[in-house]
This record gives sequence, structure tokens and C-alpha cells, in this order.
Amino acid sequence: MDKTSNDCRKCCSEAPPFEVLLEDADGSEWRTVPRDSVSIRGRSVILDLSAMKPSADAATAVRYAWSDYVDCVLENSEGLVTSPFLHPVPPPESSTRNPALRRQGGAAASVPEAANSPPSIRTPPMGFNSWNFYHCNIDENTVRAIADAMVKNGMRDVGYRYVNIDDCWQVQRFDSGEIQADPARFPSGMKALADYVHSRGLLLGVYTARGSLTCQNRPASYMHEEIDARTYCRWGIDYVKVDNCGGSNWPRTNTSWIKFREAFDSCTVDTGRPVVLSVEYCGSVDGCGEWIARTANLWRTTADIETTWSSVVRNIHAQEPMYRIAKPGHFNDPDMLQIGNIGLTVDEQYSHMALWCVAGAPLLVGTDLAHASNATLAILTNPEVTAVNQDLGWRNNEVQGRIIKKTEGRSEVWAKRLADGSRAVLLLNTHDTRSSDVTVAWSDLGLASSATAEVRDLWRKNDVGRFTGAYTAEKLRPHSSAFIRVTPKEEWMTVDQ
Ligand code: GAL
Repeated sequence: MDKTSNDCRKCCSEAPPFEVLLEDADGSEWRTVPRDSVSIRGRSVILDLSAMKPSADAATAVRYAWSDYVDCVLENSEGLVTSPFLHPVPPPESSTRNPALRRQGGAAASVPEAANSPPSIRTPPMGFNSWNFYHCNIDENTVRAIADAMVKNGMRDVGYRYVNIDDCWQVQRFDSGEIQADPARFPSGMKALADYVHSRGLLLGVYTARGSLTCQNRPASYMHEEIDARTYCRWGIDYVKVDNCGGSNWPRTNTSWIKFREAFDSCTVDTGRPVVLSVEYCGSVDGCGEWIARTANLWRTTADIETTWSSVVRNIHAQEPMYRIAKPGHFNDPDMLQIGNIGLTVDEQYSHMALWCVAGAPLLVGTDLAHASNATLAILTNPEVTAVNQDLGWRNNEVQGRIIKKTEGRSEVWAKRLADGSRAVLLLNTHDTRSSDVTVAWSDLGLASSATAEVRDLWRKNDVGRFTGAYTAEKLRPHSSAFIRVTPKEEWMTVDQ
């Protein structure tokens, strides 16, 4: 379909992004489906494979937008961009193996809309990442302790699922080319660790880089993407971060990512489990922003976050203009949370959390969760706050909130329109030394200026009351914020509704 108009014809006539796998006694080969073999029927794209040599019956799989960037996309029934997918083509005598794909007259394959794609994530990933706190000092006992803690301290039940090991778990490659986990730090092996994490109702992530070395000079995945992805799949890995370091590299930034995407989606076909692909780096709407959501689930938008307020603000500001790229299942990533680490005041930690939630950013906590204080857990596990992060937004398609009003050096108002039409609003005092009031007018939110709306304080989990026209958070301390939900009464609904 055309990127914007929902019209498939342009895409399918100019550069059909479909390939089929043809297998015969001499081997197998991916072949582009020629343009005159692609047609549209309703919401289905029909691939007529009858002209394929050796024969249509040799087709065992079909894939979409697989090999590289194509200048057109399929959209699903919600108008969202479809991820690349791979489906097996059932043998002619059986049309039940994958009801999503049926032979047409024994010689054509119908590619279904995205509803039939492999399962994938929809909301920003929530979990733990080892880098900010442990750096290279990570081992399997720590990972187990973190997983146990996430169950015990309630984080799992609030939605934190991923336990992600960052750099330094890998030491070398075996002669076979397969990556080897550090035998001293991970003596039980990654499969056993994944089994353990899964047994706790959680998911396991690992790290690699697209160059030949990771940022800490461990072996990375250049020219080893397929074997690494197969290995991760065998271990049961659920999330892979592909960093941007180091040494030799593919000439095109996205070659490595596409190879991983391809391999992970084929892992999903085999196992039924999605594998989240996190990549570094895409920092602009133009260029990579045009296509990155078709390859990755999340992409770093900024430099590494530090444990300072200026770093928190720099990172969240840098990705704010990229809100258009973010979609369900595909997120701008301003880097991990520093909540619980030394360097931010308590007020700043509350604001950091609320900023990441209103901005629909991944919530990957980079602190020692095995020893997290009650204060840290209070910030991380407020369900009304994390619900803003996990809400897919208006029409289930506006995952990233935005700055709607700003006075430089003094205040910012952020808002995200939630799926039910209410607004999550963050009122932030950005002044470094002075307390001040911060106001949101209903007209800033696209509501009638005379509207009345219920205001709920999300941190305190209480209803503040009904307000007409505006709400002011009074005497906010420097770098502190109020995080509220504004629900307009029905008779005063949004101007544009
Ligand atoms: C950086 C990356 C960090 C961390 C580190 C590990 O490039 O941005 O998040 O993964 O490498 O070496």
C-alpha cells in the first residue's frame, strides 16, 4: 500500500516487496515476485506464483519487505505499518497448516493482512537492563537475583517483564562461529538462565553490536547475524539490543538490523515467541525515521543517559520531535531509566519517570533492583503512572506524548491523549533554583476553554476535583512535577471530536 493513502497499487506495481522461497533438489533460493504477479483483492494481496520456475509447488515460504528498505508499506486493519513477515506456504494438498496463507487454484498465495503476522509487542517494553548500574560486572547469579526481586517486589505484576543483560556477557566464538557466554560468569549457560527467567514469568534479553566488536571490545555480530540470531533463538532469548560499535561494519547502517529482523521473525515462526529488536541509532525523522519502524521495535535516539538532570532532559528533548515515527510496537528510545541511582534528587527521579511515561518511552530500569529501596519502588511501580506509558494513545495509535507548552528555563507542559480520550498531563518546573506554579489550560489540550474536567493526581492516586478552563499545580519545587489525568465531562468534549 502507498505509505499514506492506503492504496496498495503503487507499491505493488512499482517495487513489489514480496519474495518467495523456491526449493528443489538443487537447493533453495529467495526470488522476487514479479510485479505482474501481484494483485489486490479487498484487503488481501494476491501473489500469483504460477509463472515461477521450477514451479509454484516449489514455493515453501513467502516474505515481505525482507531484503532491504522498500518505498512502500503494507498497513494492517488499524492503519498501522505492518512489520516484515515470513509465512510458510502450505503444501498444495493441505490448506490447513497455515490458514492465513492459502493457495489460489493450487498456484497462488494470498498474503494476509497484518492481523495474521507473527505475534509482536505492542506497548513499550518494561523491564531491567544491567548497564547503568553493573556495567561489565554482570553474571548469572546477579541476573537470577534481579529476576527473583522483580517477582517479589511487585514489578513483574505491574508489567516489568524483560531482564536484559547488556554488554560483557560474551567472551569469544567457538570454532563453529557460535558465540560463547563467559564461562566464569555464566557457567550454567544462557539457555539455563533463560529457562530460569522464564520460570519466574519473565523474559530474557541479551546485547550485541552491529560491528565486529561491542563497545567493550567483546565479539559482536558483524557477519555473524544469522548464527547469532539462531543461537539466541535456541536459548529462548526474547529481546536483543544491537548496539552501534565497533570495528568493521556493513556499509549500510541497517543491513545488520534487517538480517536480525529476518532471523528473529523466522524464529517467531518456529517458536511462536516474538523477539524484540532494539537498535542503536536513529536520531532524526528524516532518513532513518522514514523506515526504521519497519525493522526495529525500538531505536536509541540519543547519547547514553547519565545520572544527571541535564542528561535526562537532553535525552527526552532530543526525541520529542520524533513523535511521528513512534507507533504501537515501534518506539523512540531515549535510553534507560536512572531511577534508584545516585545523582538525581527524589524530585528529579519522579519527573524522570513521568517524562518517560508521558513520552511512551521504553521503561528499562538501570539500577540494582535486588536492593531497590521502597522509595525507588514507589516511583517505578505506581500502576496509574505506568498505565500512561502502556496506553496506546488516541485511536490506539498515538503512543508518544508531546510538549504542548513551554517557557524556556521555567516550565514545560507535556500531554498524551489516551485511548479513552482523557489526557495524561505532566506539569514540570524546569527552573534550576526557583519554585513556581505551572498551569495547563484546557484549550492547550484541544478542549473547549469553558470545559469542565475531572483531574486525578496519578502519583497520589486520588481525585483532585473538577476544574473549569484550567488547572494549576502550585509551588512546584525546581525540577519537580505534577502528573495528572484530565478527563473532560461528556458535555464538554474535545473541540475536534
Ligand atoms: C553503549 C550503549 C550503552 C551500553 C554500552 C555497553 O554504546 O549506548 O547503552 O550498551 O554501549 O558497552
